[in-house]
Amino acid sequence: MLQKPRGTRDFLPDEMEARRTIEWQMREVARRWGYREVCTPEFEDLELFTMRSGEGIIEEMYVFEDKGGRKLALRPEITAAVIRMYINEAKVAPKPLRWCYFADCFRYERPQKGRYRQFWQFGVELIGADTALADAEIIMLAAEMLNTTGVTYELKVGHLSFMKNLLKNLEPPAQRKVMAHMDKKDFDGLKASLESIEKPDLGNSLISLVGCHDLAEAFEIAGTIPEKGRIHQTINILDAAGVDYSLNFGIARGLDYYTGMVFEGFAQNLGAENQILGGGAYRLAHLFGGDDVASCGFAIGFDRVMVSLGETQQRKDTIVAIVCTNEGRNRALEVARIFRAAGIRSEMDLMERGLGAQLAHASKSADFAIVIGQREAESGNVTLKNLHSGEQKTLDPASAIAEVGLHGAR
Ligand code: HAM
Repeated sequence: MLQKPRGTRDFLPDEMEARRTIEWQMREVARRWGYREVCTPEFEDLELFTMRSGEGIIEEMYVFEDKGGRKLALRPEITAAVIRMYINEAKVAPKPLRWCYFADCFRYERPQKGRYRQFWQFGVELIGADTALADAEIIMLAAEMLNTTGVTYELKVGHLSFMKNLLKNLEPPAQRKVMAHMDKKDFDGLKASLESIEKPDLGNSLISLVGCHDLAEAFEIAGTIPEKGRIHQTINILDAAGVDYSLNFGIARGLDYYTGMVFEGFAQNLGAENQILGGGAYRLAHLFGGDDVASCGFAIGFDRVMVSLGETQQRKDTIVAIVCTNEGRNRALEVARIFRAAGIRSEMDLMERGLGAQLAHASKSADFAIVIGQREAESGNVTLKNLHSGEQKTLDPASAIAEVGLHGAR
């Protein structure tokens, strides 16, 4: 028997309904904040991602050559593609641009619960606003989006300038290596790397930065940082807005393009793969041939949010089974059309079952049965049977629709 590729999933209707419900909650929050949806290709030129996405991502990419010999990659994330699109299509649009997306990404990772080779991100990118309020808006939006879904999580906010200031005398490749160790909290690897470049003293400062949750203390560890005023301003806005977060100056982010404020969210009930949110301020446009526009954004790991929400039952549609005899069929089709036009999920028997068998099947799958035999076909009324209580009434279609509307779903 053929199976789906490793690290991918099939979604049955119950799961898709639950996913769509959460997706629409996120979309609604994005809409209220003015973030409009964009869509980019599933694959891009490989170069788009090798330029700045970071070594980790490059190792995990699905890369292929098309028949024209072009080197392409399935997108491992959306940010680089959105900025490419901004340069191609919207460079001259009035700033800031507020964009969002819900899209699948592909990473060749070792699959486990919450880590897949095809996964979905709900993300936003704010392009062209370089202020403390822009940084704060992105964090507030991420928090509101996650809060709306009901997921319980911890939000950690940091800024790369602390780490970068400590590492400013290192060569860029050494900086990247150290940041990668910091991102993975691999302190043994960090110490070994620093020893190999004869900078062992940096290890202690970097490790104290990771353990530090106080802004004043972080400034003491990291030294003079030009962004100090803006960092204070961002934090003040978050506090005034009542955002629930903690400071964490050890956040390094796995992608190479971040420049300033960074943040991550961790679901409280997940195991190893508990990071459900990642984002920050970055600059990418100048690498792709555009102006050096400041941007800021985040992506929510949609699948991890769904795993975290678990078996939470979503409210299902009320289901009406349209049950009929041969003589009632044409009227039943008409009644089904009237019910569907009223927004009610209505299903007819397609198996040529007898009336009794139709009712028996309906009692397993539906909330109501509308029974239409010759009598109903002639009178224009319908027999409405509540399949939970067994109660039965003869009503005209409009009253039957109202009656169904009064009942919640199963
Ligand atoms: P990222 O942290 O690489 O950031 O990914 C964002 C989220 O995607 C992660 O926090 C995680 O929840 C989810 N995720 C990542 N890999 C997997 C996987 N293999 N399976 C399931 N979920 C996964 C970015 O991608 C940036 N583009 C975010 C961003 C937007 N920064 C600025 N704008």
